[in-house]
Amino acid sequence: QTAWTGVNERTFVAVKPDGVQRRLVGLILNRFEQKGFKLVGLKLMQASEGLLKDHYIELREKPFYEHLIRYMSSGPVVAMVWQGFNVVKMARKMLGETNPADSLPGTIRGDFCVDVSRNVVHGSDSIQSARREILLWFRQDELICWDESAEPWIYE
Ligand code: TYD
Ligand code: MG
Repeated sequence: QTAWTGVNERTFVAVKPDGVQRRLVGLILNRFEQKGFKLVGLKLMQASEGLLKDHYIELREKPFYEHLIRYMSSGPVVAMVWQGFNVVKMARKMLGETNPADSLPGTIRGDFCVDVSRNVVHGSDSIQSARREILLWFRQDELICWDESAEPWIYE
């Protein structure tokens, strides 16, 4: 079992249904690749209500909870796991604030949305929630620990 710290730190990021419908998947993947993080898990899926209720369990008392679950299950999402040094904190920076109105230009939410309840992308808010969310969304064999130092694609 890999320790999810240092350069092996991992975070859970998801393109929400609005992001998929608006064809923003490639662009969001691109930002994380360009930043230098390593993709170790990726899938398009229709999340069940059960999974989403579990995912957002801490928000169950919030007035927007039911609405949030309905939105998140309204279409497919792209679930992904990114790995790298400080990835949890930096992914949140790259996303911007929860409310797009508070998100700086240059962040994903700052550049691509206006409504807090249609904010395009999710990112884990701590190392502990990253761990919980990755275990919730991915099976162990869906996470690939590939070796960055090997370059068989460039040199035989
Ligand atoms: P939260 O975990 O507080 O934000 P973040 O996604 O930045 O971690 O809330 C989860 C989602 O709930 C948020 O991305 C959008 C939705 N939401 C609303 O629809 N209305 C709200 O007032 C808040 C705070 C969140
Ligand atoms: Mg959150």
